[in-house]
Amino acid sequence: MEICRLPSQPAVIHLRQGQTAGIYSIKMPQFPPYIKCSLGDESSTKNPDSKNRMFILGMGFVGKFLAADLKSNGWEVTGTCTSTSGKTKLEEMGFHAHIFDANEPQQDVLDILKFHSHLLISVPPVLGVGDPMLRHKELLKERLKDGNLQWLGYLSSTGVYGDSGGALVDEEFPPNPTTELAKARIAAEEGWLHLACDGRVTAQIFRLGGIYGPGRSAVDTILKQEPLSKGQKMRFSRHYTSRIHVADICQALKASIQRPSPGKIYNVVDDDPAPREQVFKFARNLVEEKWPGHISPNNSAEEAKSLIPQGVSRGEKRVSNKRIKTELGVRLLYPTYESGLRSIIERMENPFRGK
Ligand SMILES: NC(=O)c1ccc[n+]([C@@H]2O[C@H](COP(=O)([O-])OP(=O)(O)OC[C@H]3O[C@@H](n4cnc5c(N)ncnc54)[C@H](OP(=O)(O)O)[C@@H]3O)[C@@H](O)[C@H]2O)c1
Repeated sequence: MEICRLPSQPAVIHLRQGQTAGIYSIKMPQFPPYIKCSLGDESSTKNPDSKNRMFILGMGFVGKFLAADLKSNGWEVTGTCTSTSGKTKLEEMGFHAHIFDANEPQQDVLDILKFHSHLLISVPPVLGVGDPMLRHKELLKERLKDGNLQWLGYLSSTGVYGDSGGALVDEEFPPNPTTELAKARIAAEEGWLHLACDGRVTAQIFRLGGIYGPGRSAVDTILKQEPLSKGQKMRFSRHYTSRIHVADICQALKASIQRPSPGKIYNVVDDDPAPREQVFKFARNLVEEKWPGHISPNNSAEEAKSLIPQGVSRGEKRVSNKRIKTELGVRLLYPTYESGLRSIIERMENPFRGK
């Protein structure tokens, strides 16, 4: 299988002069051409407090999973959400929680950020707005520069690659975002890398495939027997969909914390990009095998397939995960959707008990 690269002659932007302690060398031939940034010696003085403290901006599905994992390994974790009920839930889970609106960032919450060693950004960009946090760059830069932060991770998406006609794409493949949201993602990646560089923090970008895990998977969708959303139906038309179990996202994040590499981009996907209809069919069989006779016989995958307009191109991309394996040493817990979905259903309580 060949890795596809488009020819490019990147320009070089030197954001900072300096030596050692980490050099950014990010090849993003189209958006932007190339970023080179040295963290210089100042970054090595940034750890007055050796305790590991993670701040998660946007403690959603991935954020909560990572938080629980880190907490069980002795980390202190603080996270943000947008509602009072969310805050209560996070506190019940044992985390420090703050209500935070990226559109109007609360100064006191940003001040707390300074006392953390690690920052994960999980707030997605918004159509027509871009990354809401990056509209407040100056506020952030100050906190990054003056605080204890050493590592910043930005959760992005493999959607930035656009359509490669089914070719295998690695992190060197030039992004070719076709939607406004994917363009906003690339701009956000770039924005966070620049900001981290200015704040003398090691930044990493994680381009995630479709996220699934306990509580959010094809098995859960089938058990809820909810009609598929329009977006889900549209995604059935794709031949290859990269996905990743949330536990493996956490593995990649933790491995990157262990082996920081300033400015590096990582694809975080499993080994088996597969059509969604195949995944849903497999999930349906798992449910029928475990709890026979409980789900309605209509096959949502077939149903969705019939909605795909004739002649729609099934050309897509397959995303390479070689870098997380070779450079971060990640060994996927769930290399295929089959293994991931099996583990989810094995740990599930009988949803039909008492029904
Ligand atoms: N879902 C996928 O398959 C997929 C694939 C690739 C990449 N991604 C991206 O990866 C990241 C993590 O995914 P996820 O599934 O864990 O996301 P998620 O569950 O939707 O979590 C997003 C978090 O961001 C917070 N948030 C949203 N808008 C905000 C705003 N304006 N101000 C402050 N906080 C805000 C949410 O707050 P509340 O908790 O209050 O809602 C939530 O905590 C996201 O950026 C997502 O877009 C997702």
